[in-house]
Amino acid sequence: MSDCDTFSLVSSNDNEEWGDEIPPTESEKASEAAFIARVWEKYNAGVPLYTKEMIRFAQQQISQNPLPYAIQVLGFDGELHPNTLPLWWSAPSERRMYPVLMFASIEEITSPAPHRILSQEFACVRVGGQSRDGTLSVPEVPLNEAGAGFEANFQLWEQSETWKQLKQSLGPCLARLPEIDKIIGFGLGYITGREYTGDVESRKDGPCTQHALLITLARYLEQETGRAVKCYVQDPAYSDTCKAVLGARNIEVLEPEDGFLLVDDKSVVLSFSPNVPVRQITADLARPAMMIWDRVVLPTERPWRRLKRGGWLSPHTTDPVSPRVLAMAREYTEIPSDDEFLRAIGVYVRQD
Ligand SMILES: C[S@@+](CC[C@H](N)C(=O)[O-])C[C@H]1O[C@@H](n2cnc3c(N)ncnc32)[C@H](O)[C@@H]1O
Repeated sequence: MSDCDTFSLVSSNDNEEWGDEIPPTESEKASEAAFIARVWEKYNAGVPLYTKEMIRFAQQQISQNPLPYAIQVLGFDGELHPNTLPLWWSAPSERRMYPVLMFASIEEITSPAPHRILSQEFACVRVGGQSRDGTLSVPEVPLNEAGAGFEANFQLWEQSETWKQLKQSLGPCLARLPEIDKIIGFGLGYITGREYTGDVESRKDGPCTQHALLITLARYLEQETGRAVKCYVQDPAYSDTCKAVLGARNIEVLEPEDGFLLVDDKSVVLSFSPNVPVRQITADLARPAMMIWDRVVLPTERPWRRLKRGGWLSPHTTDPVSPRVLAMAREYTEIPSDDEFLRAIGVYVRQD
């Protein structure tokens, strides 16, 4: 669970398409520099890159039946932008892909990979394709085993010194916190692989612990405040078995990207190494009462890396700390944590 876990990959397919070894021309570079300057101008003026309206609009676009090849997305310049779906879309019989919303970070739209030209679109909420194959890297265990594995992880967390200390740190903050009515977990991960249900001691910092934290925190807040706290999670990786295990714990599994539509000032947001810029999206949508997510630190400067198998590895993670995320963190009291359960995590409690 660290900010360094996931880096964006600019795929090798794109390389072939873009001919990445051909450097951009001087006029292409000039047009790119002008685009980047305009983006930062809007960003520094406080224009949000992500709004609920943009998310709803993109959701409506992909729910059309039949889905047209050419759809539109709402940009942060207030304009509609064309968003053509990939070519595989034109062959419905072979369709192994489905449309999904994609969220580009400020870093992604302003830092081109070497020898590439930015797409130069004023839109961070876009539509792309996801494979239906859904190949899980770890084989799934049967439901009873998954439930027992989750319970073992849950017990380990609930009895941990880390949870005890977290409650002690939160206690004095509760009185000044605004009303909290829900906890939303983003990208907490797939919980029914053998690695999470077998040797629980070796995966104390894994997805099961992250879900256990969500449940115990909701219970704790309910006990302390006397108000109901609803639990939601959003992760496209959940299998039916994951959903059953979570459902049995009263956690509602949301369709992507409905979690973002729920985020408001009465929320607690949980997220650890997500594959989407959850912190940047949240910073534009609301000022939640509390966030527990990868510790907000100035990103380390890294170069783009050429991969042997083709493509480029971005210097930015999939959930980068942007200037807005840094500014948002300053409005919160930080309780840092870095142990075998919560690695490089920050608990952020609103100050007002
Ligand atoms: C690197 S994994 C981290 C999983 C887990 N938090 C951990 O620490 O092991 C990134 C997670 O982000 C999830 N993810 C991808 N797109 C998402 C989206 N739109 N909303 C929420 N989660 C998403 C992936 O499915 C995956 O479970």
